[in-house]
Amino acid sequence: MNEDIKKILVTKEQIQKRVQELGKQLTKDYAGKNVVMVVLLKGAAHFATDLSEAMDIPVRMEFMVVSSYGDSTQTSGCMIIRLDIQDDIAGKDVLLVDDIIDSGLTFANIKKMLLAKHPASIKTVALCDKKARRTTGFNADYSGFQIPDEFVVGYGLDYAGEYRNLPYIGILKPSVYARA
Ligand code: IMP
Ligand code: MG
Repeated sequence: MNEDIKKILVTKEQIQKRVQELGKQLTKDYAGKNVVMVVLLKGAAHFATDLSEAMDIPVRMEFMVVSSYGDSTQTSGCMIIRLDIQDDIAGKDVLLVDDIIDSGLTFANIKKMLLAKHPASIKTVALCDKKARRTTGFNADYSGFQIPDEFVVGYGLDYAGEYRNLPYIGILKPSVYARA
């Protein structure tokens, strides 16, 4: 285990199993539809790749880079689009994918922006859900794991750009961000 990790919350095996379950559910729910995954980079890259493979229907991929966090562990609430989607999503069934839903601001804001492009539908899926920290009424339509109010990293989730490549989801030692 990485020395900056306090505890492993979700193992690689548990992630793989849950992603397969979500993929099956989405395959059923989106049968016969034109799904476009809108993936929030960089955090959702690992999850979205595996989830799309677990879906047995045609899936298009679009990517966005939005920043709000900086290198801190708290959301600033202010959001800048650094990379926008390339294709037209009008009339398409959009599945917005992120690594984690915390306050809910990211999903709420981006959903609003995407709705202005007139998709047929838009739903959200997050790998992790930190319900205790929700400040908006926003809830994800699908989520992988309910997690406690701790700062987690791995499988795409980062702290200051690091730890994304850990194969598990783990709680980061607070001493790591206390250094910053
Ligand atoms: P929200 O907008 O407050 O819901 O936060 C969602 C965003 O915050 C995600 O896209 C993550 O980038 C980031 N985030 C929230 N909690 C964590 C965490 O525990 N680890 C890593 N990133 C997090
Ligand atoms: Mg993020």
